[in-house]
Amino acid sequence: MSTDSPLIIALDYPSLDAALCMADSLDPARCRLKVGKELFTRSGPDVVEALHGRGFEVFLDLKFHDIPNTVAGAVEAAAEQGVWMVNVHAAGGRRMMETARERLDRQGLSTRLIAVTVLTSMMADDLAETGVAASPASQVERLAVLAHDSGMHGVVCSARESARLHELCGADFLKVTPGIRPAFAQAGDQRRVMTPGDAMAAGSTHLVVGRPITQAEEPMAALAAIEAELT
Ligand code: C5P
Repeated sequence: MSTDSPLIIALDYPSLDAALCMADSLDPARCRLKVGKELFTRSGPDVVEALHGRGFEVFLDLKFHDIPNTVAGAVEAAAEQGVWMVNVHAAGGRRMMETARERLDRQGLSTRLIAVTVLTSMMADDLAETGVAASPASQVERLAVLAHDSGMHGVVCSARESARLHELCGADFLKVTPGIRPAFAQAGDQRRVMTPGDAMAAGSTHLVVGRPITQAEEPMAALAAIEAELT
């Protein structure tokens, strides 16, 4: 099933059963689902197949980063499973990203391929230690433009970066934004948060939401409350 919703719900669970239990309380017409490293490492392609079987589109958030041929093969493998979106690290460089995009095009696979720029856990000091003298903000811009020029369909970015990346890379460049906290939710361990409405107004194209929905008493009611904030 394909949906127009900008909402991507993060299935951050350690087991297939727990992930499917949450998926079963959600509606594939009103959201997509994100599968990350822990769930995928534990349950493998079975989880993707089970979610597809329930009608969901899947963002496989494995953040590939390796030599070009290896990443292209991994991206192709994800796309062959029919995932809607997959991602790589922009720090892998132009050749890595171009090779991955070319592989999708050559195989006629329409999976969206997006890039992670700078992990939000990296502060200026952390970057400096890895030899990157630029500030996190300017490194994000540099890597987003590189991702755009290398054929990526978009980036993962904070809503604070969306407006600037809209200017630099255009409206069609996807801006997939975590750190979303609806008006009704607590920030939890997310430090820089934005409401769904503000994030979309800032230029985000998709919103990744985890605990405000997955830990709600009634996940679909929480999802409906977010939809209401977006209208
Ligand atoms: O529960 P919460 O809404 O904070 O979940 C957000 C999701 O987005 C999690 O899967 C988290 O790993 C991911 N994410 C994030 N911040 C980033 C990148 C990804 O919260 N900078």
